[in-house]
Amino acid sequence: MFLKAQLFAGLMAVTLPFVAAPVPAQASNEVKIGVVLTYSGGAAQFGEQIDRGMALYMETNPEAFGGHSVTLIKRDSKRPGGDIAKNAVQELITEEDVDILAGFVFSPNAMASAPLATQGEVPMIIMNAGTAWIPSLSPYIARVSFTMWHAGYPLGQYAANTLGCQTAAVGYTDYPPGKDSRNAFQTGFESAGGSLIDDIPMGGPREVPDFTPFFQRVKDAAPDCFYVFVPAGNHATAVIKTFASLGMADAGIRLIGPGDITQDTKLQDMGDDAVGLITMHHYAADYQNPENQAFVAAWKAAYGEDSTPDFMAVGGWDGMAAIASAIVAQDGDVTAEGTMAALRGWEFDSPRGHIMIDPETRDIVMDSNVHEVVRRDDGRLGIDVLATVPQVADPCKALAIGRCGE
Ligand code: PHB
Repeated sequence: MFLKAQLFAGLMAVTLPFVAAPVPAQASNEVKIGVVLTYSGGAAQFGEQIDRGMALYMETNPEAFGGHSVTLIKRDSKRPGGDIAKNAVQELITEEDVDILAGFVFSPNAMASAPLATQGEVPMIIMNAGTAWIPSLSPYIARVSFTMWHAGYPLGQYAANTLGCQTAAVGYTDYPPGKDSRNAFQTGFESAGGSLIDDIPMGGPREVPDFTPFFQRVKDAAPDCFYVFVPAGNHATAVIKTFASLGMADAGIRLIGPGDITQDTKLQDMGDDAVGLITMHHYAADYQNPENQAFVAAWKAAYGEDSTPDFMAVGGWDGMAAIASAIVAQDGDVTAEGTMAALRGWEFDSPRGHIMIDPETRDIVMDSNVHEVVRRDDGRLGIDVLATVPQVADPCKALAIGRCGE
């Protein structure tokens, strides 16, 4: 029966066009997207999240592409260093003739590739890399992810105004987004009357360092708040464990940071040490809006009940939605100028809530939410939203600070 039904459905699909299908106004086009992500090595989990987010959007919303086909040509950027990503981008532009570049987990990979987007006149959609001034590096860059200031700056203000922290120390992974995150927190915290008493670079993004000496230094300095940025993943788990093992909460120090330190994919491994933690971010798999509930359900159906999307997956999903919208706006005949024009001011109801690409800065505008890690009745860890700063445009550019002011 089942087979017959399938066969019938198949025949219907084949025969219908001859009976009733209108002739399309324009033939469908193939749009080539060069995808540069970390598909191997220690950051492969990040590339997988973004890749899956992109694939899920395409599978769940085939009609969003207006009948045009999209071919993804994937390259592995492996590490944060920039060189491998740059070579990949060069090859995607010159050999593969891609129409659009997408992906970019790590800031140095996006930064090294930006001049090639300009020279090749190929739009580049950033799906993660968060250093604030990346879109200023090329007129062909638009970002759907976040800047380090979406979390760092409002969390600095929240720490002083609501958490009652008068002093703070910052620990950060020592590369561009880490420094940017430190600047964001410091600017927000000091604007609300707080004072930064220590500032500690904690190794590079590739290897997870032993955080003990850095955290011990903070324990000795005894600030009210300890703001930490690490590039998510295994770094985040190590941060939570080290903070607990040194008994820093009992010493009266409150650990805070962007949601990278409570990434959904790492949360269940963190256990009781994470409960009560306050972070600021734009996405958690627990968000209750209908778009997110549908997104998480589709994710679990596609990738397994035990798997969860995180903020990187949403960057991939939203990035594909942006690309689809740009393709449809040009009826499949994509040009660099046409794509950038379509992306400027693009709005979308994302799983994270409403988002827009600022037409001036080509950067994302979205809600920043205060998160609290909680233990649910079923024993799993979850994230509750305590407060929302609505529709934040990158504060670094709004305040024209440092390279954001150039
Ligand atoms: C970045 O390199 O910009 C980056 C990487 C991982 C994060 C955040 C930012 O979690």
